[in-house]
Amino acid sequence: MTITTPTEAEPTTQNGTPVLKATKLVKTYGHVVGLDGVSLELYAGEVLAIIGDNGAGKSTLVKCLTGAEIPDEGTIELDGHPVHFRRPQDARELGIETVYQSLAVSPALDVAANLFLGRELRKPGILGSVFRVLDRKLMRERAAAELSTLGISTLQDVTVPVENLSGGQRQAVAVARAAAFGSKVVVLDEPTAALGVRESNQVLELITTLRSRGVPVILISHNMPHVFQVADRIHIQRLGKRAATITPKSHSMTDAVAIMTGASVG
Ligand SMILES: Nc1ncnc2c1ncn2[C@@H]1O[C@H](COP(=O)(O)OP(=O)(O)O)[C@@H](O)[C@H]1O
Ligand SMILES: [Mg+2]
Repeated sequence: MTITTPTEAEPTTQNGTPVLKATKLVKTYGHVVGLDGVSLELYAGEVLAIIGDNGAGKSTLVKCLTGAEIPDEGTIELDGHPVHFRRPQDARELGIETVYQSLAVSPALDVAANLFLGRELRKPGILGSVFRVLDRKLMRERAAAELSTLGISTLQDVTVPVENLSGGQRQAVAVARAAAFGSKVVVLDEPTAALGVRESNQVLELITTLRSRGVPVILISHNMPHVFQVADRIHIQRLGKRAATITPKSHSMTDAVAIMTGASVG
């Protein structure tokens, strides 16, 4: 095998200030080092993939970026302004939506209610403001419209409880929720891991739809063909550190795996 020396993709080739920028993040769990000084830049209109072996720190990295974990050290900037997320709600309020690896949908609720979970629409006037009555009809209309905008055709009926859906359809609900509300950044941790070929392709299409809407996406995936199909740049995590940032043009899948496993030095 040819060992190539990976080069960091030049951040200066990207336009302007990163939408999301992390500098030297450190996160430890007791004696375990989850992140060991990791930096990351996400630019407008790009899909940034994060790859790496199990335990390399991928999930910890996105949890720090999305308020699910608080880093011990390091800084995070959104549009050039420092942010300090204490909980996921802080990041959501600033337009960062996440689909975590452990799927978070409420099985007993229908598709529309899941899409608006935590952001329920209420009836106008005193019914909504005082009695907190939900406007189910409006949520169903908006949910159906959003799913059709996103080109999600597998969820025809938004009144079906999510527990009656297939794994792929549930994942589509979670991704659609992120896509619907992620006005700044959408983060997907292994979104296609449990999906079949057709469902995976729908998620990949959704990612490119988001990019074309101008919303940058962070995609964690083990699936090299998926990563090379949709990513503009690829951040490679290894042993809690960023080993390299490459592009599908500058490097092959074999190169990427070599950097991931340490066969080639980043
Ligand atoms: N809540 C936690 N408690 C203890 N160790 C953790 C916790 N979360 C992650 N880790 C450890 O941090 C390291 C990075 O984990 P993670 O970010 O989940 O890796 P990846 O997503 O790349 O598989 C691993 O060694 C993992 O065991
Ligand atoms: Mg993970």
